[in-house]
Amino acid sequence: MTLIELDKAAWINLERAGTDSGSALRYLNFCTVDRDGHPQARLVVLRAANREDRTIEIHTDIRSAKWREVSANPAVTVLAFDAARGQQLRLRGKAERHGRGSPKAADAWDRLSPWTRSTYTGGPPGESSADVELETASAGGKEGKFVFGVIVFQAFQLDWFQLKRGGNRRAMFLYGSGSELVDAREINP
Ligand SMILES: Cc1cc2nc3c(=O)[nH]c(=O)nc-3n(C[C@H](O)[C@H](O)[C@H](O)COP(=O)(O)O)c2cc1C
Repeated sequence: MTLIELDKAAWINLERAGTDSGSALRYLNFCTVDRDGHPQARLVVLRAANREDRTIEIHTDIRSAKWREVSANPAVTVLAFDAARGQQLRLRGKAERHGRGSPKAADAWDRLSPWTRSTYTGGPPGESSADVELETASAGGKEGKFVFGVIVFQAFQLDWFQLKRGGNRRAMFLYGSGSELVDAREINP
């Protein structure tokens, strides 16, 4: 595959993961910088990807640490691994928050299953479970919608790595301000 084909295939696979819960790229490491300047990582579900805009959407609770961290510092790295293809995608970019009252959060909420909605009705993530009842009440109780948010990650660089017997391969892709591919280089693995 040419470099341009590699980049395109990577984004097509990310897009597919948004609609296919069995996709290898469905779970991503979403990495932020915490308030101590320390790298922080956690798994999230890829909810949607768009290869034209180079964006990936995830859902979260606006009371979570990642929500605050993205506000203080929008620098984010997303790490994905496709075991069947032996491919690692390391995407550098920035994240944008769409919280309560935003059209994007309202639209995403409308399309959630009742079960997924119910996962937003508990207490604030990371706090003692003993406080759940109290915190849930103060957060609006049954209305998980109030604490539901969408984070849109936009990539400006893809570090692509394939682990393959007989020849590992690595390539770096840079995206411009219009999300177009501006540089593609094969680099040493
Ligand atoms: C397989 C898996 C998928 C997860 N998906 C999400 C997700 O889509 N959104 C989310 O906020 N947390 C998700 N979590 C929980 C996060 O990994 C994390 O523990 C939680 O969001 C708190 O993170 P924070 O305190 O760094 O914000 C998932 C966990 C696992 C194990």
